[in-house]
Order: sequence, then C-alpha cells, then structure tokens
Amino acid sequence: MALTNRTKKWLNKNHAPDLSGKTVIITGANSGVGYKSAEIALYLGAKVIMACRNADKAEAAKAKLRAEYPGAGITVMTLDLADFDSVDAFAAQLQQEKTDIDVFLNNAGVFRKPGKTTAQGFELVMGTNYLGVYRLSEKVLPYLKTLPHKVLYINTVSLIHKAAKTDYGDFFCQRHYGSFKIYARSKLYLARYTYCIAKKYENSNVRILMSHPGIAITPLGINAFGKTVGHAAKAVSVLFNSPEKSALALPFIIANGLPAGSIAGPKKLFGGWGYPKVNRVLKRVKTGGEQLAAKTLEITEKPSHET
Ligand SMILES: NC(=O)c1ccc[n+]([C@@H]2O[C@H](COP(=O)([O-])OP(=O)(O)OC[C@H]3O[C@@H](n4cnc5c(N)ncnc54)[C@H](OP(=O)(O)O)[C@@H]3O)[C@@H](O)[C@H]2O)c1
Repeated sequence: MALTNRTKKWLNKNHAPDLSGKTVIITGANSGVGYKSAEIALYLGAKVIMACRNADKAEAAKAKLRAEYPGAGITVMTLDLADFDSVDAFAAQLQQEKTDIDVFLNNAGVFRKPGKTTAQGFELVMGTNYLGVYRLSEKVLPYLKTLPHKVLYINTVSLIHKAAKTDYGDFFCQRHYGSFKIYARSKLYLARYTYCIAKKYENSNVRILMSHPGIAITPLGINAFGKTVGHAAKAVSVLFNSPEKSALALPFIIANGLPAGSIAGPKKLFGGWGYPKVNRVLKRVKTGGEQLAAKTLEITEKPSHET
C-alpha cells in the first residue's frame, strides 16, 4: 500500500531530506517497519538495498516496492543475523563490491523464540538482536569509515530496554528464561553497545544513533502480545503505531542532524505511540560499555557455545 497522504504531509512539514543519489541499506526490509522504511527512503529518492534472510520474501517485497517506484534502484542482499558466517559474508561483499552507503539502518529483529538457537548455538533472541547486530557492526563500521563522505548508522532498539536488567553472569537468561526478559535485555545490550560505538566513532565520518518504533502492529508486534491479544490488538490497530508512522524515525534522524548516541522514536504513552521525537538516553545505556564489550568478546570467541 502506498504511503498515506498524512505521512507525505508529515514528511513535508518536517523538512524530510531529498535522498536523490543516496544509498540506504535496511536490514529486515521485507516486513513491518523495515519495509515501510524502504518505502519512505524510495519516496524521498534514495536507492535502497534490502538486506534480508529469506530470498523469496525479499523478492516479493521488492516486487511490491518496484510496482510503486518503477524506476528506482532496489537491490536485495542476503543477510542472516542469526549466523555469523552469513554476517561475515555480507560485510565482505559490501567491501569487495565497494558499495557506496549513506545510511545503514539495522532494523531486523526477533521476539519470542523459546528453545531456538543461532547457527553458532546462541539463544536466538539475544543471538540475533544483540550478537548478530554486534557482529555486523564490528565488520561493517571499519569499511564505512573508509568512505569519502558522511554516513549515518542506526541501530533499532525498543522502548522495553528501559525495563531490562543487566546480568552478565546469566547472559542468555538461562536461569529464569522469559520471552520479554530476553528481548528487553537484548535491546538494552544493543543500546549500550550502540552508545559506546557512537562515542568511539564520534570524530569520524560515521555518526551512530538509535531508533525505536514504539509499539507497532507488525508480525513481531503481534507475536509480542501473544496470539489472542495480538489479534485483538490488530483489530484495534488504530490505537497503536502503524509500521509507517514508526518508520518515520528514519527521515526524522536524517533531517535533524541528531548527535551521535541519540535515540529517536515515539514519546507518547510511555514511548509506545506517536511521531518520532528525541528520547532521553538512560544512564544505564550510557555506562558500562567496556564491560559489555569484554563480556561479548569472551562469549563470541569461545570455540564452542552453551546457551
Ligand atoms: N513492532 C514493535 O512494536 C516493535 C517494538 C520495539 C522494537 N521493535 C523492533 O523493530 C524492528 C523491526 O521489527 P518489526 O516490528 O517491523 O517486525 P517484523 O515485521 O517481524 O520484521 C522483522 C524483520 O526482521 C527480519 N529478521 C528476523 N530475523 C532475522 C535474521 N536472523 N536475519 C535477518 N533478518 C531477520 C525479519 O525477516 P523475516 O520476514 O524473514 O522473518 C523481518 O524482515 C526489530 O528490531 C524489532 O525488535 C519493534
């Protein structure tokens, strides 16, 4: 479905940037907020690279976008965040092909996957949302730093990171597993890591920030509520953010030149709803980055992993 007039008006009123000649990479661009982010980027004139794990879903989404923007540059690349080999191959391909990138939106994520693991044997939610994005960032950022122009690098967190607790002794919540608990913790660690690298890259051409979509009615959003409540929520989806409204964080960040380490996303109803604004970055996101980096290295560099 094409962008609504309301979205177009918002973009106009909020000085949405002209992205002609720019390239935007979006992970998980075949669904939900990622798909709508791709649509908005195309509307603003960008070329879009859809980095997706499932080729069929990606091609189907690409065909829908192509029907709307017939002349636009839309490419699909394979990326499975739940497999370090796939992440490494994706990063290597970007470098080998000297892909020009202006904006990199790490949008892909998962929720509620009890008992499932990544290719390397990590619990799937932490393994995808934090370890996968960590691995990707470590591999891609050195390349982005070599580009001769400014680059925006955005990691997608969740407002639920505010409710998460740090426990490096039980990194994968094995002692008391809970779908919300591991998801919230994966996003807290992602936010802390992102803030840490944002500071590290502050004097380079790469500006690193975060976005969060609020509560959006997407496959992940519905799954988060659980089947029954999820379908009820879909029926009254007008009470929640549409994926399209949540995706406005992308042009908001590009247009507003926010400082490195910022978080942009809805603020109404405790951050669940509304158009994007600048959010406060919590102290627990701003601190402890080195300790998290050390723990992450320890976990990811072990020859075999227990989850
Ligand atoms: N919806 C919400 O209320 C909400 C709230 C807070 C944060 N978020 C965050 O917003 C982001 C977008 O979520 P969404 O709500 O738009 O969900 P969605 O519609 O379910 O989309 C998630 C996307 O991530 C992709 N993905 C999942 N695992 C992947 C992997 N291993 N490698 C590569 N891609 C993978 C999915 O691919 P497939 O289609 O192949 O599964 C899909 O394209 C996520 O990071 C999520 O955590 C969402």
